Parts: sequence; structure tokens; C-alpha cells
Amino acid sequence: MGIPADVTLNTGATMPVLGFGTWQLRGDECRRAVAAALEAGYRMLDTAAIYGNEEQVGLGMRDAGLEREDVFVCTKLAGRDHGRTSDAARESMERLGVEYLDCYLIHWPAGQTADFEVWAEMERLHADGALRSIGVSNYSVALIEQLLDRGDVPPAVNQVEMNPFTHPRDIVKLCRDQAIAVQAYSPLGQASRLDDSRVARVADRVGRTPAQVMLRWGIQHGAVVIPKSANRERITANAQVFDFELAEADMAALDELG
Ligand code: A2P
Repeated sequence: MGIPADVTLNTGATMPVLGFGTWQLRGDECRRAVAAALEAGYRMLDTAAIYGNEEQVGLGMRDAGLEREDVFVCTKLAGRDHGRTSDAARESMERLGVEYLDCYLIHWPAGQTADFEVWAEMERLHADGALRSIGVSNYSVALIEQLLDRGDVPPAVNQVEMNPFTHPRDIVKLCRDQAIAVQAYSPLGQASRLDDSRVARVADRVGRTPAQVMLRWGIQHGAVVIPKSANRERITANAQVFDFELAEADMAALDELG
């Protein structure tokens, strides 16, 4: 279909373009959903310290029985931990039951300037090998530019909200120009617009579900998508996005939504 199932990060590591989002999944439901996602073929998991589910994500990973290196594990530094980045990263690894993180992100910027001190600490952990790739989340164009100017290691990833209704074109363009991978969170718009008639028209045309169409739209824009679902059938269906393609006219119709 012309789009590889992985993107190569500026660290040289590869990251699957489809990941499993775990925001709002808790407890056993989270554990079961993570195991189901890995069984359905997802090879990237996205969590965060503030989701309060890192232990369950780790348990779900072990339930699925894959080798550690076959799963790309991504978690995020909480705002409350900006003064203790190393400890917080170690604690996340302990909760997940892993020795290293494939990707560690600053979850939210603390203010109007980039988080330089946090970033310097993450650069040290990256050099040590504990954080294979480091990045940011919810960073604006201005903040990314500051980090690129003053940091030693460029961010590998910026995770932002992205779907046809929320399309941060300026951030996507900057990231593409700077070889920063965009991870799209809420790629299904948290299910609030799946019944939109314009999405449905495209879905009818390609014979797919609105959810698959929204995910494919993100992938064709070069983003890595991380849909969340607690339901095994929807988890499986959301992974079926590599055997069809949206034509230019369909992409253009969806681009008009946001
Ligand atoms: P559920 O967990 O019951 O499947 P996002 O990834 O944009 O944050 O969206 C997550 C929301 O979308 C959740 O409420 C999830 O509900 C719902 N969802 C996930 N996949 C589908 C799907 N294929 N069809 C309809 N709703 C879905």
C-alpha cells in the first residue's frame, strides 16, 4: 500500500505506525485490552505515568508473551515530576516491568518556554541507553523550535491530538521538516465524530468503518496513530488499516473537516 508499517526515528530506531493507546484504561480491563491488542498485531503501546495504568500495561504485555524487543513501549513524564526526571523514568520502568523504554516523552510543557532542564536530564538517560528515544507531547511549533535551538539531542517524537477534525497542520509540517515523528493521540476523536456524515461517505466509498478511515487518514498524513479501545473486536478492527488506501479526493474531503 506504499506505507511501511514502521517509521524510522531520528535516533535510527523503528517505531510501528500503529500503536495502542491506553488513556482511560484502568485495572484488569487495561491488562486484558493490552494483551488483546498485542494478540491482534499491535506492536507499540502508549501509556503515561498520569494514566495510572503502567503496571497493568506491563502485565498485559507479559500475558501476551512477546519478547521485550518486539514491543515498542512508550510512556510519559508527569508534570509533577519535572524536578525528578530520572527517578520518575525509573519508577515508570519498574511499574511497566521493563529495563529500558523505547520512547519517553515530556507529557505537557510546563509553560511558555521549552522544558530545558528536564530535556537535559532526558538526554543523559538517552546517552545511558535507558531511554532509547526521547521526545515531547503537546509541544507547539514555538516550543519545538526552542528545543531544537538549545538542546543537544533533537526530539524524536511529538505526540499531539490529531484527527480529521483536529488537524495541527503547522506542527505536522514542522515535524516533517525536522524529521520528528508525529504520534496522533485521540485519532478517533474519542469517538465523538465517528457518525459524521462526511466521514461516513468516505467510509462507504472504500467499504470500511469510519474508525478505520480516520486512522488511515492519519497514517497517510505520515502520523503514527494510537487508537484506544477496551473492546476486543474494535481493537482488532482498528488494526485493519494496511490493506486499503484513501484516494487523493477522499483525503481532500477529510482534510476539509479540520
Ligand atoms: P471503546 O473503548 O468502548 O471501544 P481515541 O482513540 O480517539 O481516544 O478514541 C477512543 C474512543 O473510541 C473510546 O471511547 C472507544 O470506546 C472508541 N472506539 C474505539 N474504536 C472504535 C471503533 N472501531 N468504533 C467505535 N468506537 C470506537
